[in-house]
Amino acid sequence: MSDTFAGDAAIVTGASRGIGSGIATKLAEQGASVVVNYRSSEKQAESVVDEIADRGGEAVAVQADVSDEDDVAAMVEATVDRFGSLDVMVNNAGMTTLGPAEEITVADWRRVIDVDLTGVFISSRAAGRQMLSQDDGGAIVNVASMMGEMGFHMRAPYCAAKAGVINLTRTLAVEWAEDGISVNALAPGFIKTAITDQTQDSAKYTDTDIRRRTPMARYGTVEEMADCVSFLARADNYVTGEVLRADGGWTSDAWRYSENRA
Ligand SMILES: NC(=O)c1ccc[n+]([C@@H]2O[C@H](COP(=O)([O-])OP(=O)(O)OC[C@H]3O[C@@H](n4cnc5c(N)ncnc54)[C@H](OP(=O)(O)O)[C@@H]3O)[C@@H](O)[C@H]2O)c1
Repeated sequence: MSDTFAGDAAIVTGASRGIGSGIATKLAEQGASVVVNYRSSEKQAESVVDEIADRGGEAVAVQADVSDEDDVAAMVEATVDRFGSLDVMVNNAGMTTLGPAEEITVADWRRVIDVDLTGVFISSRAAGRQMLSQDDGGAIVNVASMMGEMGFHMRAPYCAAKAGVINLTRTLAVEWAEDGISVNALAPGFIKTAITDQTQDSAKYTDTDIRRRTPMARYGTVEEMADCVSFLARADNYVTGEVLRADGGWTSDAWRYSENRA
């Protein structure tokens, strides 16, 4: 345990598994009282809460669909009722569909944009309103993706949504900087979670393909992503509007030499 976030209240959206559960656990270990948000996986969210409590932290599970304004407003209200403030908002919830652009339905497009982009706007706005009313600032961290900075086949709505998240992050950062609210984004590369397993099956690439394409030659871990978010969420780092790429060097490398060797 450390006291980096002692006395702070944090919401982590989509914290019932994967990267979000790692972020929730990390912030709790560092002293924050944490809302573990989920949409449908209540049991998994409750087990994240139990794990945090077992390690001496404080957390509560709150259901809300991040694409629903009323759900998100109620979640922020529940956070303030329970913990007295909202100091850190981590917009991590996300999903994707896979398919060639010419076959994607408008319904699928809208579903991904609704959750991955509009959901981040709704949650940031709700958090921003609360933080502005508190007068002592706060931090918002949006989990984007390296796919928000480059094209990636089979993922038109996801890439568009994550690119939107990156520039929304910059815009909110400049709007709220004088009020002491930092807004930053994390752009992960490939991290082993349910979403990568789901997309990997349909996209037909292997773990070896990913390792050969990644300069660091491995997947990133949930713990590494949680460490990055913890840094961006700190009040004392003079960083806002930034996109932290945690992708093992993927986006820095236009042509991977070892990948192209026989
Ligand atoms: N894994 C990677 O390689 C990778 C790479 C780059 C970026 N990312 C991003 O990192 C974030 C987390 O990804 P992950 O890999 O940890 O995914 P994951 O294991 O599939 O977890 C997704 C989480 O989001 C929640 N969620 C989905 N839709 C929601 C909604 N409408 N409202 C509230 N919660 C919702 C899920 O809860 P329910 O089950 O209850 O819906 C779950 O807790 C996403 O934004 C993803 O795009 C992941």
